[in-house]
Amino acid sequence: MNLYKYVSDAVNTKLGQSVNLEVPRNRDFGDFSTNAAMVMARSAGKNPRELAADIASKISELPFVAETSIAGPGFINIKIKNDFLWNSAAAGADIEQTPAMTIDMDYGSYNVAKSLHIGHLRTSIVGDTLNRIAKFLGHKTISYNHIGDWGRPMGLVIAYIESLHPDWPFFAPNFDADKINPGDYTITATELDTYYPAASARGKEDEAFLNRAREITADLQNGHPGYTALYNLFLKVSLDMMDGIIKKLNMMPFDKTLGERNASMHLGRVEEMLRARNLLQTSDGAEIVTVRRDTDSEPMPPFMFYNSRGADTYEATDLAAIWFRKDSDNPDKIWYLTDARQQLHFKQVFRVAEMLDLFPVENLEHLYFGTINGPGGQPFKTRDGNAAGLLDIIEMVGEAVRRRCAEAGKNLDDDTIESIALAALKFTDLMHDVKSDYIFDPAAVTSFEGRTGPYILYTAVRLNSVLRRAGTECAAQPAMPTNLATDERNLIIELLDFERTVRSAFDNRATDQLANYAYDLCQLINTFYHNCPILRDDVAPQTRCTRLHIARAAQATLSTVISLMGLRIPNEM
Ligand code: ARG
Repeated sequence: MNLYKYVSDAVNTKLGQSVNLEVPRNRDFGDFSTNAAMVMARSAGKNPRELAADIASKISELPFVAETSIAGPGFINIKIKNDFLWNSAAAGADIEQTPAMTIDMDYGSYNVAKSLHIGHLRTSIVGDTLNRIAKFLGHKTISYNHIGDWGRPMGLVIAYIESLHPDWPFFAPNFDADKINPGDYTITATELDTYYPAASARGKEDEAFLNRAREITADLQNGHPGYTALYNLFLKVSLDMMDGIIKKLNMMPFDKTLGERNASMHLGRVEEMLRARNLLQTSDGAEIVTVRRDTDSEPMPPFMFYNSRGADTYEATDLAAIWFRKDSDNPDKIWYLTDARQQLHFKQVFRVAEMLDLFPVENLEHLYFGTINGPGGQPFKTRDGNAAGLLDIIEMVGEAVRRRCAEAGKNLDDDTIESIALAALKFTDLMHDVKSDYIFDPAAVTSFEGRTGPYILYTAVRLNSVLRRAGTECAAQPAMPTNLATDERNLIIELLDFERTVRSAFDNRATDQLANYAYDLCQLINTFYHNCPILRDDVAPQTRCTRLHIARAAQATLSTVISLMGLRIPNEM
């Protein structure tokens, strides 16, 4: 249940107006508090403390309220009855299903023939968790790995392969796909990884090479058979690599792996609409749409539909992708998750979508991320000084976990090490406000103490092991205990705040709220565990049942939170 909402709705109904309900940091005086008396006294010209007494006595009449008290200039503290808390927790962690929306979620969105970099970390981790949260709340989501599979990088890579293997048949004017055996032309993932950086560096120095790459890009987009066959070869290599990452990060599989190339097939649709509204202008051989508004205070360059070489642009394919998604999914919302550097891009795309009435612009959302830096605030580098790729980062975290376990004399199997590393990596990412930059320090995030993934897992592992030992003891729902210890009570209240947290995390697209909830919950679980022994011999049977019951409720909620974060709980740690 959503305790906060329940109490808030009841108080509002009782008082006949909507008041502010707060959760005090310190629950010694009340579980909730309100400044209602002070607000109402101001408008009524009354004494706030006197009014508070009035309001407090009304609130006391609510059946779930144990007592109210007045503090300071007129704050009202509300304490909830133990049996109400107990019964609510016993009712289970079911979530009221909200009227469902269909959301197209565009995240991950990796690039073909380019290795994944640190910029892809947040979109993957946060995207996957938001997707899980949305589904948990009853929404329908369609996840898109909108792959970058159609732009200039394709031309650069093909031009580069041409310079390495000019004799390959893909470049011959009489190329015939039926006459070749694709197996004869292997490109390994490691090789492919080196092509794009090399090609892009060469393109910066060598004008002729760059022009060749541009030409190839346009030809590929126009269906050149040789380039298409070669493209299909390395596309496969890239897709396999992406798959590896998706599994490694324990992400849900994408519903659709359809990117720029797929969108480009629908360009004609949006082009027609643009022409019908006379929105395309020619400028230096390119076709553009003016998206600047008088109210703009920031630079707002035109939206480029075709570039001067007639190639499809990234912007144009994104516009066509909106058409495609509307046509195939008819979603209520489309979310895009990328780093902050793409803000201008999406502003432009959304403006044109609005001009074309392609999709309600208020339902197009770009959720953008801050930057992840290495220790010291510098861009993340590998040990040999290169920019760190996504796989490098994952490996660094794995190494840090191994080192820690070795130091602590823990002997854990590889699977467990991987689960801990995954938790370290993902939790720190989920825990930071998505828009802020943060510093990623493999040593810090792998600590077993503090606000870290391993701490969360450790709490779950310990709780699981207690409950495993307890077996089916006290499986039936025990009656309301005569009294609840503070640590029992605090934990129950936190459990009853789970639903509000997930909803708020979804409404605000804020995975940090879920991650921080996980941490608070773990702290309360550990305090409870420390102060309220469960299986010890000297614990009275009735008390043991009460505590086992609370521990089971905590386990249910904690494991739900952990699975929403896409982490795996090992058997031991
Ligand atoms: N492929 C792009 C990149 O790696 C991200 C694509 C985001 N999605 C989109 N519809 N533009 O930066």
